[in-house]
Amino acid sequence: PVLVVDFGAQYAQLIARRVREARVYSEIVPHTITAAEVREKNPVGMILSGGPSSVYADGAPGFDSEIFDLGIPTLGICYGFQVMARALGGEVAHTGKREYGSTDAELTGDGGTLLTGQPAEQTVWMSHGDSVAAAPEGFQVLASTASTPVAAFGNDERCLYGVQWHPEVKHSAYGQNVLENFLHEAAGIAPDWNSGNVIAEQVERIRAQIGSGKVIAGLSGGVDSAVAAALVHEAVGDQLTAVFVDHGLLRQDERRQVEEDYVAATGIRLVTVDAADVFLDALDGVSDPEQKRKIIGREFIRTFERAQADLVAESLESDGDPIRFLVQGTLYPDVVESGGGTGTANIKSHHNVGGLPEDMTFELVEPLRTLFKDEVRAIGRELGLPEEIVGRQPFPGPGLGIRIVGSVTAERLEVLREADAIVREELTAAGLDNEIWQCPVVLLADVRSVGVQGDGRTYGHPIVLRPVSSEDAMTADWTRVPYDVLARISNRITNEVEEVNRVVLDVTSKPPGTIEWE
Ligand code: XMP
Repeated sequence: PVLVVDFGAQYAQLIARRVREARVYSEIVPHTITAAEVREKNPVGMILSGGPSSVYADGAPGFDSEIFDLGIPTLGICYGFQVMARALGGEVAHTGKREYGSTDAELTGDGGTLLTGQPAEQTVWMSHGDSVAAAPEGFQVLASTASTPVAAFGNDERCLYGVQWHPEVKHSAYGQNVLENFLHEAAGIAPDWNSGNVIAEQVERIRAQIGSGKVIAGLSGGVDSAVAAALVHEAVGDQLTAVFVDHGLLRQDERRQVEEDYVAATGIRLVTVDAADVFLDALDGVSDPEQKRKIIGREFIRTFERAQADLVAESLESDGDPIRFLVQGTLYPDVVESGGGTGTANIKSHHNVGGLPEDMTFELVEPLRTLFKDEVRAIGRELGLPEEIVGRQPFPGPGLGIRIVGSVTAERLEVLREADAIVREELTAAGLDNEIWQCPVVLLADVRSVGVQGDGRTYGHPIVLRPVSSEDAMTADWTRVPYDVLARISNRITNEVEEVNRVVLDVTSKPPGTIEWE
């Protein structure tokens, strides 16, 4: 792999994604990794991410400088660039002069291997306080800006490079090209990582893990669990039984899509468990978001355990082997955001990572644990899954349960389901599905407002529309849905859903808001 060393900024994931867009497999590792650990991973290249601090600040994230002697092609970005400069004998000046946002950079000479083929002047995106004042010996300065004389450097012989700007953000005009020059030209890594290899590699891994054992997969109706189960089915065929838990927190028509369309496409053996009552009971009176998530995560596992017991009892397994493995569609961002990746902060417990009960008896099979959403979709298509499942917008495992602000009841779920179906129908009809990453529809069950309908006063609940545009759910912006579409949605919801008398639009980006309200 190419290792992306995380110095604690939000950028490491973005870098990892961009590397994969260049068709090279990447993995994020913490900055505390040692030279010995790096050697063990045998990377073909390394990229040091940006970070929030000055290299001189107290507690600034450090880095084992012996790693630079391992002969691994390395690119330092922003903070990583300065770490590199300092470790190799260059000079980092604590100027305190911040350079932030779009900046003009000028190539020095031809820009060397790293900036080869790029225009002499270009816009780059900067965010730094300190600057590299002198490049280490043997390094060529490749670019500069008005206030940063050494904005990029390189040493072709040692295959070490650095840029002060952030090539991974789209505001850097030739950013992706910098990464590709580093990976393909400088480090000589072939761009051959694609969904075909991922499938082959995962199938092999899954077979090694499961052997001749029995496995169940939870299907949520979402893309991730559908693709994870299809991958496992590809690997071990009928050793897999998929269990679809109807937890009563589903949207309209989801159950039919799974039970009919998905099964037709994959040939997977599917058992549906009706567990709506169990989930509703467990959630009764609970309105704290983290508690809801934990309860839903726990009940998922409990339901699977019951399903396992039932499956054995019903002698579906004629040899009586217990089912030991459980497939989950955990994605890379879930792992990182739940603090399981590199020691980053726990933002919220994704039900399938931080919310698992400690006494769980299954061994997890998580074939998507290193992948991003768009990669999962590509794999799903390659495996022949129906577009209506692969192309659908992300929907959280805890379902409508975390889209009711307040406690969850059957009546509230029904209200939200109706409103959600209207929103989805109208957004699709307006051709906005590709522009919108997802559009949570949220019922503010504990809020009421006064309205007037016909001749009478109403005292109903607001529905929040949360359409967002995003590349990977790590950051998002609210989507500028045309007013006429919003008007149609609002009209329909307030007319067709009796309990709702107000529709409001969430115009918050992420950060500071998260995509879901809970
Ligand atoms: P947030 O709200 O953290 O959401 O900005 C980021 C993405 O993750 C989805 N999400 C979840 N998915 N289990 C899931 O499977 C969860 O517990 C969960 N929480 C949030 C959310 O819909 C968005 O796509």
